[in-house]
Amino acid sequence: MKVFKFIFLAFLFFSINSFSQTPKDFLSKDFHKNRRGALRSKMPVNSIAVVFSNPVRNRANDVDYVFHQDPNFYYLTGYREPNAVLIIFSEDQTDKKGIIYNEILYVQKRDARAEQWNGKRLGIEGAKSELDFSTVFNAEDFINSSINFKKFNRVFIEKFNDDYRNSLKNTSEVYDLVVSFKQNSGYNSNNFISPIKKQVYELIKATPIENSANVAQIIGRALSYDSSLKDDEDLMKFKEATDQKLKIELKQKISLKLDIKTNIDISFLTSTLASLREIKSPEELKLLIKAIRISAIGQVEVMKAMKPHMSETELQGIHEFVYKKYGAEYEGYPSIVGAGNNGCILHYIENNQTKVGNELVLMDLGAEYRGYTADVTRTIPANGKFTTEQKAIYDIVYDAQEAGIAAYVINNSMAKPNQIARRVVNQGLFNLGIIDSINQPHPYFPHGTSHHIGLDVHDPGNYGNFEENMVVTMEPGIYIPEGSACDKKWWAIGIRIEDDILVTKNGPVNLSSEAPRTTKDIEEMMARKSILDDFVLPDLDKK
Ligand code: GLY
Ligand code: MN
Ligand code: MN
Repeated sequence: MKVFKFIFLAFLFFSINSFSQTPKDFLSKDFHKNRRGALRSKMPVNSIAVVFSNPVRNRANDVDYVFHQDPNFYYLTGYREPNAVLIIFSEDQTDKKGIIYNEILYVQKRDARAEQWNGKRLGIEGAKSELDFSTVFNAEDFINSSINFKKFNRVFIEKFNDDYRNSLKNTSEVYDLVVSFKQNSGYNSNNFISPIKKQVYELIKATPIENSANVAQIIGRALSYDSSLKDDEDLMKFKEATDQKLKIELKQKISLKLDIKTNIDISFLTSTLASLREIKSPEELKLLIKAIRISAIGQVEVMKAMKPHMSETELQGIHEFVYKKYGAEYEGYPSIVGAGNNGCILHYIENNQTKVGNELVLMDLGAEYRGYTADVTRTIPANGKFTTEQKAIYDIVYDAQEAGIAAYVINNSMAKPNQIARRVVNQGLFNLGIIDSINQPHPYFPHGTSHHIGLDVHDPGNYGNFEENMVVTMEPGIYIPEGSACDKKWWAIGIRIEDDILVTKNGPVNLSSEAPRTTKDIEEMMARKSILDDFVLPDLDKK
């Protein structure tokens, strides 16, 4: 008996001890509750929001991708498991027992066997205590729920990606939850007309049949903007039709589609959550700043460690080791480490060049810390010294970035830094004779400079004017791939410098400034000793 008691106590001690050693610095339950309140306050009378968690996605055979929560779902709940649904009501509801509630969370059911294989689930009780929901059910209860979606004036959902898998192992996966929602709510994807489609439909409705040749031409042009129009059978038939009778029939059919009324709305949640998420709270800033500092320090360590004999993969590993050392769970997006010409591929993720040689290496990486993702790029010469050509291009990008950052000022348009950077880049390329005129369109700076970061690396936002506590990247770049229409000496130079800027009442604050940015500071950092200089592993190819 005593032995059992000892084993039990040891087990209890171990469980408590191991639990206490897991990270505790996630967003608080109050944060998520407050965000649900903020969303509710923007919902019109008699409306309901239905938000689905992410599904588990399959990698191959019986191996799934590491699960990552949908950021909107996480923002509103703090729940980090799949197969869940959040319901928010605009007003209080009363159940049969007279209990009042204004939100429901449906979660994965506890399951000893599944938990033995795949890890602990919060279940109903955990969701109540850890996430502070008072009304929680198992996900299967959503399928059988008596919520009458049709009685609401508005039902807010996000656009379905429809990439859910029915694994058939579980009857309440996101797949099943979505199917059940669609059935119970009368959801029909044909009821949602994109703005372009709406314009085309209205044109068809308003144009006399004898003029429909013009309309067919306009449909052709609309197709080049929105290729999904080709899935609209009636529209395609109308475009090709020569028979008057058929055209009239199709015109009537299409005109009727304009009159379809549905209470389901797929845009409110996306735009309202973007407005909420684009301004970071102090609690969010703490985590985001940590993610950014970790990423900047990763850049510093790689600057010290980089040698021409190293591979892109190895350099990626050094960055990611630093992230893990700080306890960051993931990379916020696939790491980009591209030497020379590879640096000219904007989202190069193969990272498989076996020697970086004497090239410039572009490294765009961000740690994800407790859900928040940094986005920091440095471009450095593998041998520690910029060539004259590399420095000339680097300095243009640097000047463009500096000029752009100065515009991260409250009430400035968020489009301004991009415009400023573009002017600096064009002038610089013109001065070097790489382009013939400062107004010439050219392919060397093919992307914008500024996006929000947060729970997503490309965080949602409305992209109006800068406001206090936004965190936005500033990332100009010049990419001159081999074969470009300029002197060969510029080829294979790809440079991006990307920093994460906090907008404050006192002006911009560069949160990633720990990673050197000037050519001088980079060269100085690269000359320093790295702890990895002495890290030598056995050569597996040596006999
Ligand atoms: N890392 C993706 C981007 O810079 O936007
Ligand atoms: Mn970026
Ligand atoms: Mn980036």
